[in-house]
Order: sequence, then structure tokens, then C-alpha cells
Amino acid sequence: MGFYEICFSPTGGTKRCADILARALAGQGSFVDLTAGTQAFDSIRLTPEDLAVLAVPSYAGRVPAPAVQRLARIRGNGARAVLLCVYGNRAFEDTLAELRDTAVQAGFQVAAAVAAIAEHSIVRIYAAGRPDGQDAAQLEHFAARIRARLEQGNCPEPAIPGNRPYKERKAIATIPRATTACVSCGLCAGQCPVQAIPPDDPRQVDTGRCIACMRCVAVCPHQARQVDEARLAALQQALEPVCSVRKEGELFL
Ligand SMILES: Cc1cc2nc3c(=O)[nH]c(=O)nc-3n(C[C@H](O)[C@H](O)[C@H](O)COP(=O)(O)O)c2cc1C
Ligand code: SF4
Ligand code: SF4
Repeated sequence: MGFYEICFSPTGGTKRCADILARALAGQGSFVDLTAGTQAFDSIRLTPEDLAVLAVPSYAGRVPAPAVQRLARIRGNGARAVLLCVYGNRAFEDTLAELRDTAVQAGFQVAAAVAAIAEHSIVRIYAAGRPDGQDAAQLEHFAARIRARLEQGNCPEPAIPGNRPYKERKAIATIPRATTACVSCGLCAGQCPVQAIPPDDPRQVDTGRCIACMRCVAVCPHQARQVDEARLAALQQALEPVCSVRKEGELFL
């Protein structure tokens, strides 16, 4: 059996959860980085004996569009998949349902699904520092239950929450911009998952391409890429009632 960890994770929270789940499930495997977008996804072909963790963050209750497009190019060929959706302590709504549909279309057999929490990548005070020790223990416990089910050999697809049609994708209000501290080093341009920052003029951003993933904010060594302060404050306030109370991970088996 081959094992794959296939992950879209612009700021690392999804990958931290996926790493914990994957390690507890099957140890070391092949890592497929859906974030970079440079891998030859069309040439990745699994077999029915293989197992994969498919991990994405929730963006406004959906799977980020580039993650859907890139995952759809992989050939699952009947491999079993454990779905993982990671969200910032608000809600994941239709993310797991969309991930399930994308995985099935790509030829995977869904054996289990997990929702987990990581620091909110836009308003970082919510779920700050997560996944923490408690999350890790829970993910390891989920992995043990999934492994036991896989070893039985009989893995009917679990009921996965979410609506169809999925929530409409919203217009993006939190596109980060370069500040006067930007030294045009181009680091963020090379790291942007959708090439929305022109390498020859990295102070700019193509607002039609940007998915507001916050990777440029996270990687800039000069803290020179930021979301508008007033917008951030408004979002923080709007999320306060739903994000302040700690939510826990869920297993669908
Ligand atoms: C554009 C965008 C939309 C988001 N929408 C939601 C959401 O609807 N619900 C939620 O709980 N968290 C939301 N988050 C937070 C992320 O799901 C969470 O921080 C996740 O861990 C980010 O993954 P990453 O660290 O792998 O980039 C959103 C983050 C971004 C950047
Ligand atoms: S990484 Fe920071 S300093 Fe470098 S180009 Fe991007 S915003 Fe400017
Ligand atoms: S420009 Fe937009 S898509 Fe690119 S890294 Fe920054 S937030 Fe993400």
C-alpha cells in the first residue's frame, strides 16, 4: 500500500493538522503540495491499494477554487481517501461536501472525513496557536479509529455534512496590499499559490487572481504585506460572536 498526503495549505495550518493525522494513520508518505501549483498533477496516479489524506482549508464555507482544480487533475483510480477540512473556528459549511465530490470525481473512494481547527489565517486572534496539544491528541484518536475501520476492510462512505448547491463564493474583501515597508524583494511573488503578484513589480497585486489566502502576509520578512486595517477590524468584530467560543474537531466515519 502506498500512502499520500495531498494538501493545499497557504499559511501552514491545514498542513499542521494533516501532518498529525497522516503520521498517526500511516506514518511517512508521499507529499503532494497542491499549494505550489507547479507539480505535474496530471501525472499523479494512485492505485486501489493506496490510501490518501486529502486536506484543504475552508474559505467562506467552500474549498478554495485552485485546490478543487488541482485535485481534480490527480487520478485516484479507486484509492481510499480520508478527507480533512481545516477551518478557523467559525464554520466549515459545505467544504467537506465539495471536497467529497471533487475526490469522487477524481476517482477516490471516500472512507472517512475529519473537520479540524487551526488559527484563523486572516483574523489570527481566533483559534490562535491551534492546532494545539488537545487538537493533536484528538486527531491521533480519530486516526486510530479510522485505521481500525480500514483494517476491517469494509469502509462504506460516511454521511458527510453540507448542502448542494454549495454556498455561493463571495467577492473577496481582504486582499493584502504592499505597504511602504516593501523592498520589492519578490519573495511573496514566488510563493503566491496563484501567481497574483507580478515578480517584476511585487508591490502590485492582480485582484482578479488573488484568493486572499494570506500567504504573502505570512512569508514577507518585513511585514510589508497587510490587509487594510479598517477591513480587518470590521471582520474581527463580525466574527467575534461565532469565533470566540472554542470549537472541537469532528470525525465522520
Ligand atoms: C479567504 C479565507 C476565507 C476563510 N473562511 C473561513 C470560514 O468560512 N470559516 C472558518 O472557520 N475559517 C475560515 N478561514 C480560516 C481558515 O480556514 C483557517 O485559518 C485555515 O487554517 C487556513 O489554512 P492554512 O493555514 O492552511 O492556509 C478563512 C481563511 C481565508 C484566508
Ligand atoms: S516579500 Fe514583502 S518586501 Fe518582499 S516583495 Fe513581498 S511585500 Fe515586498
Ligand atoms: S496575492 Fe493573494 S493569492 Fe497571492 S499570496 Fe497574497 S493573498 Fe494569497
